[in-house]
Amino acid sequence: MHIDIRSLFQNPPLDTKVVVKGWVRNRRGNAYVTFISLNDGSTIHNLQIVAEAQDFAEQLIKQCTVGACLEVRGWFVKSQGKEQPFEVKAQEILILGHADAEKYPIQPKPHSFEFLREQAHLRMRTTTFGAVFRVRHHLAFAIHKFFNDRGFFYLHSPIITASDAEGAGELFKVTTLNLENPPRTAEGKIDFKQDFFGKEANLTVSGQLEAELAALALGKVYTFGPTFRAENSNTTRHLAEFWMIEPEMAFYDIHDNMNLAEEFLKYLIQYALTHCPDDLAFLDKRYAEEENKKKKEERSEMGLLEKLNFVLEHQFERLTYTEAIQILLDSPAHKKKKFQYEVAWGIDLQSEHERYLVEKYFKKPVILTNYPRKIKAFYMKQNEGEDVGKETVRAMDILFPGVGEIVGGSQREENYEKLLTRMKEVGINPEAMWWYLETRLFGTAPHSGFGLGFERLIQFVTGMNNIRDVIPFPRTPQNIEF
Ligand code: 4AD
Ligand code: MG
Repeated sequence: MHIDIRSLFQNPPLDTKVVVKGWVRNRRGNAYVTFISLNDGSTIHNLQIVAEAQDFAEQLIKQCTVGACLEVRGWFVKSQGKEQPFEVKAQEILILGHADAEKYPIQPKPHSFEFLREQAHLRMRTTTFGAVFRVRHHLAFAIHKFFNDRGFFYLHSPIITASDAEGAGELFKVTTLNLENPPRTAEGKIDFKQDFFGKEANLTVSGQLEAELAALALGKVYTFGPTFRAENSNTTRHLAEFWMIEPEMAFYDIHDNMNLAEEFLKYLIQYALTHCPDDLAFLDKRYAEEENKKKKEERSEMGLLEKLNFVLEHQFERLTYTEAIQILLDSPAHKKKKFQYEVAWGIDLQSEHERYLVEKYFKKPVILTNYPRKIKAFYMKQNEGEDVGKETVRAMDILFPGVGEIVGGSQREENYEKLLTRMKEVGINPEAMWWYLETRLFGTAPHSGFGLGFERLIQFVTGMNNIRDVIPFPRTPQNIEF
């Protein structure tokens, strides 16, 4: 059996014979000896293979090109060099997979992330992407652990649904109708009665509605699955397919909800620091190099690890939307007309506003609550006793430095009449959502929940600037090659 390089570094079986398998990251040497850096993905560390010319045919060594896949048998020993603690003195080398050195796109030199996105099938073989996807795995695992340890149940919400949970209309349709010649009703509309499900279906934008049904039965649940949004925004923070974690808890009010979300985020960051120290140390260095390329005034004040520890050590700042608007109105940026978008009560905060609050004003994560009803989803609990036109809902958004909104959530409207009225106001057909409304008729209860964007979390933890670089195969407008 071969052994993972990770195990060799963790528990070095010095002076024993080992079998390793992996891909060549680099090769150097001279007429007498060749040094091969081998990586098998189990760790960020490469294993040095030492092949002496006298032991191997020249032809074989020539084929150990960058990108080739090798099986190596040899002695695992302390390294003579200072660059690495151990090495394998090769006795046998088998080429499992050749890589044409002229054609292999990933060379041992810095490649731009734009270039690597076009090589998504191979980019996981680079040091940076290996690190990012290992961190991604550990965070996914930590999410299940966090909730399991606290008595939450994992709910598998459907991927194909007939509802638009967020009411934003950014749906990908799911159909088996013949698009060339769809069946039509008497009025000339497409007849979805003849479609696979007998009505219009789409990919889910959120598992929240189903999670609410489950919370009102199982108490505390969470979903963790892919969600799909056909929003045409080409930004560094949006994907058309992204993963969301949505806990939903019966008997939680908005304060319990905020406490849980803050504890959750800190737990995940701590988990990554504990379980991915080598990958994060590398990403910290990479982040510093990236920041150094920027103009001084645009550089982040903290390094990556510093930022992660800072978030752990500080309470998130909690304030209302109305207070946030006042801070923005009073800001020098507003007075000097530096904001591109207007600031007024009722606006949807733009990324420049969020950045001002988080990065300039508070300099730490911020939880904003009590947003205007008009800019939030229909299911949020309405606050009472407010002036006409200034009605708010018990929403809570968590804003993080660099990534902006990382969590969106709320206490839910549990009152049947209010929910029904609100649905009609925003043009949602109550009949289509009868099952959701019925939970408010039969044993309704105060409840709350939130959604964490998994990729935005990974962006924050890894310091990767573009959301396309934290998901293996990003889906964005005009982009579905891999
Ligand atoms: O704020 P959103 O739209 O909230 C919901 O979907 C609620 N149903 C959640 C709930 O209360 N259960 O989305 C939640 C989070 C955002 O804060 C953001 O982190 C992420 O999902 N998100 C996206 N991430 C990547 N690409 C996109 N297009 C995203 N849209 C939202
Ligand atoms: Mg939101």
